[in-house]
Order: sequence, then structure tokens, then C-alpha cells
Amino acid sequence: MRILFISHAFNSLTQRLFVELREAGHEVTIEFDINAAVSLEAVELFQPDLIIAPFLKRAIAAAIWTQHTCLIVHPGIRGDRGPSALDWAILNQESQWGVTVLQANAEMDGGDIWASVEFDMPNTSKAGLYHNEVTQAATEAVLLAVTRFESGHFKPEPLDYSSRTVSGQLRPLMRQSERSIHWQQDGTQTVLRKIRCADGFPGVADYLSHRELFLYDGHPEKTLRGEPGELIARCGTAVCRATTDGAVWIGHLRDKAAKHPFKLPASSILGAEFETLPEIPADANSGYRDIWYEQEAEVGYLHFPFYNGAMGTQQCQRLRREYIKACGRDTKIIVLMGGPDYWSNGMHLNLIEASESAADASWENINAINDLALEIINTDNQLTIAALQGNAGAGGVFLARAADRVWARKGILMNPHYKDMGNLYGSEYWTYLLERYAGKENAARITRARLPMGTTEACTLRLIDNAFNHNPTSFVTELKQKARSLTMDSDFPAILQQKLKQRLTDEALKPLQQYREEELARMRLNFYGFDPSYHVARYNFVYKVAKSRTPLTIAAHRRTMRQTIKNRQ
Ligand code: COA
Repeated sequence: MRILFISHAFNSLTQRLFVELREAGHEVTIEFDINAAVSLEAVELFQPDLIIAPFLKRAIAAAIWTQHTCLIVHPGIRGDRGPSALDWAILNQESQWGVTVLQANAEMDGGDIWASVEFDMPNTSKAGLYHNEVTQAATEAVLLAVTRFESGHFKPEPLDYSSRTVSGQLRPLMRQSERSIHWQQDGTQTVLRKIRCADGFPGVADYLSHRELFLYDGHPEKTLRGEPGELIARCGTAVCRATTDGAVWIGHLRDKAAKHPFKLPASSILGAEFETLPEIPADANSGYRDIWYEQEAEVGYLHFPFYNGAMGTQQCQRLRREYIKACGRDTKIIVLMGGPDYWSNGMHLNLIEASESAADASWENINAINDLALEIINTDNQLTIAALQGNAGAGGVFLARAADRVWARKGILMNPHYKDMGNLYGSEYWTYLLERYAGKENAARITRARLPMGTTEACTLRLIDNAFNHNPTSFVTELKQKARSLTMDSDFPAILQQKLKQRLTDEALKPLQQYREEELARMRLNFYGFDPSYHVARYNFVYKVAKSRTPLTIAAHRRTMRQTIKNRQ
């Protein structure tokens, strides 16, 4: 079928549906919901069989839904309506939640139901929920709805609040007054719920350091206690605040009145006050841990759940030190775990934006990631596995491919390209790694296409070696079983030998240092050259400047139009 997406952005859910529907054999094109006229033009140009709205911030124009079937993906159970579905689900401690695909009509979220899929609610942030459970359920529900639509004889179910299967309700936009933390009354779990139901957006507004700040990245503290509401400690870049029955760590803050009004580590926002707090180290019982190592039998697991998958210079340097330590242990395999939501999204663009010299900060950041990638590529004593529990983007993809094996949770997404960030050339030894695994022609095609890739395609192109298990918890269990049995494989010594031999052969053909120098020469131009595209694109990304048109890489209907105009000229 010809399917047109009308979406606010090409966010991770939209990307996943794009990948899945194309894999199912459909022709999919995308138009950003810029205004009704532009969407109507897209409909005229493409003449779709079906329109899907994976992520919208406002209603579809009546001129569209009256003429075409439009399916809306709503992140709520049957009957749930309103713009803060996930916020309410987290705040109200729902044990089950879901995604419903409904037909657009005059009533927002009130149309006939084409499919609905439920899941058990995890204890996580809104962004974590959206990236994992919601995305998976939405994929299942949309595929089901599309099959039903294609069959031609499915009758969608009208929304009927008297039905036993409809338990949701219309809820309003959640306001800051409903989110606000009462430090003198709220226990740790309540505070965490309030932070998490607003994380990633909009953040819960609170008073810290005599100003209004938005809180993100909340985690429980197991041992420290203090006067409710007091800042009691710091650890790494996070700050600890006491609740009535414990304390919470807050990793990130946003000060919308500041010079840099976007999310930054708490240390950057609190400044001098942060330094006055007692510093505590992080371990399994206390502190804010963004890097840790655990070992089971002969397998070492290195976790690095950096917020939003962004890897700042210091995080890369600390991770490299921990990685080197892990290599010094008596293990056969090191598994690089990333975090549950993201494996890595490359350089930390917010920190770069907030630095005094964005060019210098970018240069330092890319070199720090490169140093880490180099360490991984050159690991002699262990086999290395990158375990992608969550998505990877840009440099994060190639950092993963620096490992000997890439194992991914089924359904995660990769964005193995940099060019969308103002024509950034990219480094992380990608010119070595992409060609080595995907081959020259595919490497050129992937770089040109700038498209997200699902695990099936990534396996075919050898960007991933194995993909299994959609479920986040079961993925980790199965991963551990697989890693352990690999250590016991009688071929293990031969596998290790083969990797060393391959590395020596590759190095003789072209040294890693040469790849690095060539990539960095291009990056130097991106950072310090006359063309400011990268700096402009990074600014737009960090400040979330809305796109004024849909990129041609994803708007296939507009590519065709452009070609027709060219042919006429
Ligand atoms: N640095 C800082 N923040 C980043 C980031 C990065 N490299 N990559 C993602 N984020 C943040 C986003 O700003 C967003 O923040 P929010 O919580 O305030 O909304 C959050 O992570 C989620 O990102 P989003 O773009 O909404 O996620 P997605 O899953 O829809 O898209 C990517 C994933 C990777 C396609 C997209 O985030 C991206 O292009 N990131 C930049 C990659 C890059 O160019 N890195 C530098 C070169 S190595």
C-alpha cells in the first residue's frame, strides 16, 4: 500500500514504524505537520491508500480525514484521550497501559478503534516508556491496523464508554501544579514519579538555588538522609536532595531563564553552590552511577546509561579508564551494555552548545570518543560485544561497531549517519568500520540515504551480528546466557585468534591512525572551517527549532515532484 505519515517530527517511534512498514512491503513517505496546506499538498502529490499519524501535536485537518482514512497512534489504552496520556499513566501508577490506533474524526482521540495493544508498566521515565514499551506496542498495533485496513472488510469499533473493554478516560493536559513536588510531604517514590512523568518533556518545575529549575534524570538514593528538601550531596555531575523518607539524585536540570536554557548536567547549572556540597563516591548502595562494571563468571559487563545517550568528553574519558580496567581482569568477554534507553548517540551536543568555544569542545569530544573506540578495536585479550538494549545514533553506531560483535534487542533503531547534523563528516573510525562490515557499496549507500535502520536490515548489512528478543528484560537474560555459552565454546580460542589476525591484516593495509587523521581533517573543517552548517544544525537541534520543511531523504513524494520539475526544465 501507499502510506503517508503525517508527523510532528521523525522521532524514534515514527522511525520504527517507517522501518517496519517498509519491511512489510509498503511504500512509505513522510510529511511533517507544518500546516494544513502543506499536509494537503502531500496528500495530493502522493495519493496515499492510507494516512498514519504516529506523532502529532494537533488535530489533522478535516479536509484530509474526511477524504482519506487517517489512523492516529495514541499512547493510551482504549478510551484514554488527551495530550498527557503517559504523564498521567506514570503519575497515577497504572499497572497496565497501552497504545490505541484510532481513526481521525472531529473529536480529538475519539475516533473508531482499529487496534489496541497493552503492556505491563515498567518503573521508568516517560521517555524510557515511550522508547521501549510504547514503541513496541505501537508497532504491533499499527501493523495489525494496517493488515485490517488492507483486508477491506474490518469494521473499526466505535468508542463506547459503556463497553467493558474501554477503561480509559478523557484527561486534560497535565499542568505544573499537578506535577509539583512537595518536599515536606513527598516520599522518595512520589518525588521520583513526579520527575519521571515529565522526563524528557517538559520537566517538573521546582525551586533550587533560589530559582525555578526543571528537574530530570531522577534516581533513588539508598542510604543518605537529610532534612526534606535540602541538597545534601553531590556525586559526579548529579545532586542529591532529601525527601521525607530518603533522598533522590537529580542528574540533569534546565534553567529556562539562563543563557543556555536547555538540559544540562546539574553541576553545570548549579555552579558554585554545587561545589560546596559534600562529594560522595558512587557504588552499588549509594550515589549517582553512570558507569559501572559487574562480572559473572568469565564475562565482564560495563554499563554506561548516559542520559539521552549523549557522551561528553569527560564521560568518554572515564568510560575509557573503566574499560581499560575491565580489560585488565581475568575474563574472556567484555560486554558493553550502554543503557536501557540508548546505547549511545555520540558527542554530547548540549554540552558542546553550552561551552565557551563550541569548536574546541567538539574537537575534544570527538577525540575522547575516538580514544575509546580505539581502545575497543585494539582489545587483544578479550572478545568484545556491544549489547544494544536501546537505540544508537551517529557516532554511537560506529562506537558499537568497534566491538567484535554487536548484539541488539530486536526492534531497536540505528541511525548510522552524521550528515543530518549540518553535513558533519563524522569520525569514530567509521570509514574503517562501515566498509569493513557492510562493504564499500553498501557503505556509500548508507551514508547517502541518511535513513534509520531496523535490526533486520542492520543484520543483513552486518552492522549488527545478532538480534534477539523484543523484551528489554528478557534481552538481557538471553544476552547473558549467550555470552556465557560463548566463553565455553571449544572454538573460543580460535575466534580470538582470528580477530587478532584480522586486525593485523587490516592494520597492514591501512593503519587506524591514518583513518583517524583523514576523518579528523574533515571534522576540523566542520568545526573550524568557513561553512557554519554544523554549528547551525547543532544549535537548531539543541534548541529544538522546529523544521520548516520535511527533508527530501524521507519525503519520497517530494523527491518525485522535484524530479518531474527538473525533467520539465
Ligand atoms: N547530544 C545531546 N543530546 C542528545 C543527543 C546528543 N548527541 N542525541 C539525542 N539527544 C537528546 C535529544 O535532544 C532529546 O532530548 P530531550 O530529552 O530534551 O527531548 C533526547 O536525546 C531524545 O532525542 P530525540 O532526537 O528526540 O530521539 P530520537 O530517538 O527520536 O532520535 C537520533 C535519535 C539519534 C536520530 C537523534 O537524537 C539525533 O540525531 N541525535 C544527534 C546525533 C548526533 O548527531 N550526534 C553527534 C555526532 S557523533
